[in-house]
Amino acid sequence: MEFMLDTADIDAIKELDEVLTVAGVTTNPTIITKSGKTPEQVISELVDYLRPDQSLFVQSVSMDFEGIMEEARYINALRPENTYVKIPVTREGMKAIKAAKAEGLNVLATAIYSADEAFMAALNGADYLAPYVNRMCNYGDGVGQVIDLIRMIEVQGLSSKIVAASFKSVEQVHELIAAGIQAVTVQPDIVRAMIDHPGTEIAVGEFTDAWDKTFGRKTLR
Ligand code: G3P
Repeated sequence: MEFMLDTADIDAIKELDEVLTVAGVTTNPTIITKSGKTPEQVISELVDYLRPDQSLFVQSVSMDFEGIMEEARYINALRPENTYVKIPVTREGMKAIKAAKAEGLNVLATAIYSADEAFMAALNGADYLAPYVNRMCNYGDGVGQVIDLIRMIEVQGLSSKIVAASFKSVEQVHELIAAGIQAVTVQPDIVRAMIDHPGTEIAVGEFTDAWDKTFGRKTLR
């Protein structure tokens, strides 16, 4: 199972990568516009920071087939391996996903709002499928649709991995991990909420206080 960070905030990436096992970083145009940096700066920071085994995902911005293909080649060439172009599943995007896979490029199908859209992108050979879980909840049961998608991919023997995105709560992430999702990409604030349980701090404080009161020190020896 791959746990990825959905952010272009290099400080947050470094902070969480020290503590957790981070399989990769996903970005999108909105995330990059909010970074306060140019796309070139963001991309170069990520390329410099990530280890070769960590994946990098950068989204195409052009809306037409030729433009998407040109950006797909550029993005795939940023690093020797583990670099993926994110292509939205519009008609032009679906066509580009098919063509990019025929060229041997690494592709993530994104901006997915239904299990059916995702399934069609899987048939086109997308390596990853990114359903927008919380946004899907505006149209029905987003988590349920992604659980359906997990089954659809499995029973049809397709190789695409689902990387669930667009989370708004720890519970949504939890439910999909428990359902067997292959990957998730999560914003740093939700990741912090997954690991910084206040009960843990309280428990550790109690252990240290008891030790200090009994032995007059806060260390084992
Ligand atoms: O990676 C893109 C996806 O996570 C979108 O998230 O928060 O804009 O719905 P959000």
